[in-house]
Formats: sequence, structure tokens, C-alpha cells
Amino acid sequence: MDRETREEIERLKRERNAVILAHYYASPEVQDIADHLGDSLGLSRLAAASDADTIVFAGVHFMAETAAILCPDKTVLSPAPDAGCSLADSISAARLAAWKAGYPDGIVVSYVNTSAAVKALTDWCCTSANAVKVVQGLPEGRPILFGPDRHLGSHIMRLTGRKMELWDGVCTVHDRISREMVEDALREWPDADILIHPEAGCSDDAGLNANPRVIFASTAGMLRHAASSRAVTFVVATEEDTIHQLKKENPGKTFIPVAPGICCGEMKKVTVRNVLECLRYGTGKVVLDEDIRARAMLPIKRMLEIG
Ligand code: 13P
Ligand code: SF4
Repeated sequence: MDRETREEIERLKRERNAVILAHYYASPEVQDIADHLGDSLGLSRLAAASDADTIVFAGVHFMAETAAILCPDKTVLSPAPDAGCSLADSISAARLAAWKAGYPDGIVVSYVNTSAAVKALTDWCCTSANAVKVVQGLPEGRPILFGPDRHLGSHIMRLTGRKMELWDGVCTVHDRISREMVEDALREWPDADILIHPEAGCSDDAGLNANPRVIFASTAGMLRHAASSRAVTFVVATEEDTIHQLKKENPGKTFIPVAPGICCGEMKKVTVRNVLECLRYGTGKVVLDEDIRARAMLPIKRMLEIG
């Protein structure tokens, strides 16, 4: 990026008292202009703690919406409001309400990759970083309705031993990551650790879960593992641009994508240009119905409070 654009971004940020938050799946040039990077959990925390007046959220729309739910007094701008998510799109408030009606005593746990309207009908939110903790803390003897990601759901059932009813949604990006792909990587890179996001299509595989070289982790968990592991080579089974930050933080180590093209096109709708437009013109303001926002805040707050 040229110096002028960078200086213009800095000037506009000062003018608006704005901060740019970006997910690790954003394109490398967007990651490089962000004030803070994070996984879904980290970014929710950053949004809640920020003292900026404006948050420009470089991620798909549900992420900007989550920040707006948590920060009613701030302006949250979404550079690409049409950037969707196959998981968030797999469940609507009406379909969740119908599912819940079959389990009057049920506890609804929703992945943070959901709309505000779905969160408003949810008891607990979770991310891939804290789903185990959230589910372990739930009372026994009541049905748990977990959605929308069935791969994450089965992975969590395996780790916690808790039985859950699963919504049949998948992330179309991670769903492509198969056991065969990972087994090929294990053979091809015998000294590498294999980092797999629990949204992956193979995250419930018994053999992979038992393999000490396989680490299931959220994106931030992958960064922590890469920094602390003695391994120098890592195969990365999540959105490919996560490797940008992994390389930056671990210059002496090697990161290899598990397969070419594991890429979330929706995340790439955020560009330096539309981030600049947000800062310049205040475009992409997230506006939520206040009743939905207030109800959606409760399950997110519960999630943040468990640490
Ligand atoms: P995390 O940020 O929780 O690792 O989730 C990945 C994801 O798919 C976000 O859309
Ligand atoms: Fe949604 Fe999957 Fe893209 Fe994450 S990677 S934003 S879950 S479509």
C-alpha cells in the first residue's frame, strides 16, 4: 500500500477517533492496516473494551453486528455489509424458534457466527475458542440445542462428553477440509504439527482427535500454539490468509496450507478501499433494532463473562 493511503487512513482515524479491527481471515493488506487482529472471541472482547467512538470492523457482517450489539454507544461501520457467512445464513430466527419449540426445556447455544435475531433467541453464545468451556458449564438434565455448525458441535460433544442436538449447518469453506487431506499432510510433512479449525469437515474424526500431532484450535489458538511449539513446520487447515499473521509472528517457522484455495470469498469483500470509504464517509453503519440488540447482548455477555 502506498504511503499516501496509509497516512490518509491514520488522519481519518484520528479525526473520527476510530479503530480498525480485523479478523485473521481478512486479506493481508487489510490485516496490515488494522489496529487489532483477532479471532471471533478476541475481537468481541476488543470491541467491548474499546474507547474509540467508531469501530471499523474488517470482517463479515455478523462480526460487525456482534460489535454493534456490544457497543450501543459507538458507531460500528461494516466495510462490506453484503459480506455474508454460510454458517450464519444456515439458520434464521424463525427456524430456530421452530426448533426450540420442540424442546421446551432446551438450552440454546449458538456459535457467534449467527445473526443478531438468532442471538436474541439464544441462551449462550460461544466461539470456537470457548465452546468447550461454555458447554461444560451448562446444567445437566436439560437438552442442549447447539447450532449452527454441526462439525464444531460434534467436536465439542466428543471433548465434553455432553450429548447435544445439532443444527445441520456447515461453513462451506471449512467443510472441504477432509480427513484424507489431513492424512496426506501427516504423511508428507512428518515433522509438522497440523493445525485444524474445529469447523473443518474432519473435526469429528476419532483418529485425528487422538493424534498428538493434530491440534484443533481457533485462529488465535493456532497463533498461540505456533509460538510455543517446538515444531518448526506447521500445516494450516483453516482459511489460508491466517498464514499471513502466523508468518509475521513466527519468522523462523514454515506454514503450509493443507490444500490450495481454502479461502473465504466473503471475507475478501473487505478491501483497503472500502475501509477507507467507511472512514471518509461513515458508510456501512450497522443499525439494529433496539429490542433485538438488547436481547442478543445477554448470551454474548454471558460468554464473555466466563473468560
Ligand atoms: P474463529 O475466529 O473463532 O477462529 O472463527 C473462525 C471463523 O470462521 C470466523 O468466521
Ligand atoms: Fe463464515 Fe466460513 Fe467465512 Fe468463517 S470462513 S466467515 S464461517 S463462511
